[in-house]
Amino acid sequence: MENMDNVTILTHPLIKHKITMLRDIHTGTNEFRKLVEEIATLMGYEALRDLPLEDIEVTTPIETCKSPVISGRKLAIVPILRAGLGMVDGLLNLTPTAKVGHIGLYRDPVTHEPHEYYCKLPSPIEERTIIVVDPMLATGGSAVDAIRMIKEHGGRKIKFMCIIAAPEGLERLHTECPDVQIYVGNLDRCMNENKYIMPGLGDAGDRIFGTK
Ligand code: PRP
Ligand code: URA
Repeated sequence: MENMDNVTILTHPLIKHKITMLRDIHTGTNEFRKLVEEIATLMGYEALRDLPLEDIEVTTPIETCKSPVISGRKLAIVPILRAGLGMVDGLLNLTPTAKVGHIGLYRDPVTHEPHEYYCKLPSPIEERTIIVVDPMLATGGSAVDAIRMIKEHGGRKIKFMCIIAAPEGLERLHTECPDVQIYVGNLDRCMNENKYIMPGLGDAGDRIFGTK
């Protein structure tokens, strides 16, 4: 794979450990949800590294000074439904004042093409740093479509965060959206004939919501 300077593959041991717990077929819904949230928080720490700051005046017990705070009004978290919902609270733990948009996409089980069913984004979207979240980047179709929809609504500064990526999807997202910073918890081996990531973790939405 060529050098991709808009891609960060995270290496923190806590993220790697929790991803292994997620993969385990014996991890139940409750534990799975908690792990997805925790991983999103840990990944968010990296993805939000360049958040804009603004100085406010604060009075310490010693004196008054200017000190930086995050311009939280300018952040939007956008989960791709359904599975992306599992990552939202993990990011809100870091930036509780962020606004949350939603993009509804499902993958056709036969063609594996994404289909849109919902889009609601906080305004003014063009002024916000937007973090699109989805645990899985498989063919890349859903991520590319979500980013296209956000751009059509005026979004410009977009990041994408996933817990597990397949090489094919990462390559596609990187090629079709070179202006998007991409954060990946782990790059897996490949996809199977049903376009599930191998070794992956199965169907992320089903494991988060306990459906089949
Ligand atoms: C899963 C996953 C991604 C998408 C990834 O969602 O959460 O959105 O598949 O696959 P892709 O990269 O090949 O597009 P799914 O369509 O199963 O919907 P769900 O979250 O509602 O279960
Ligand atoms: N969607 C999932 O939930 N899992 C995969 O492995 C691929 C797409």
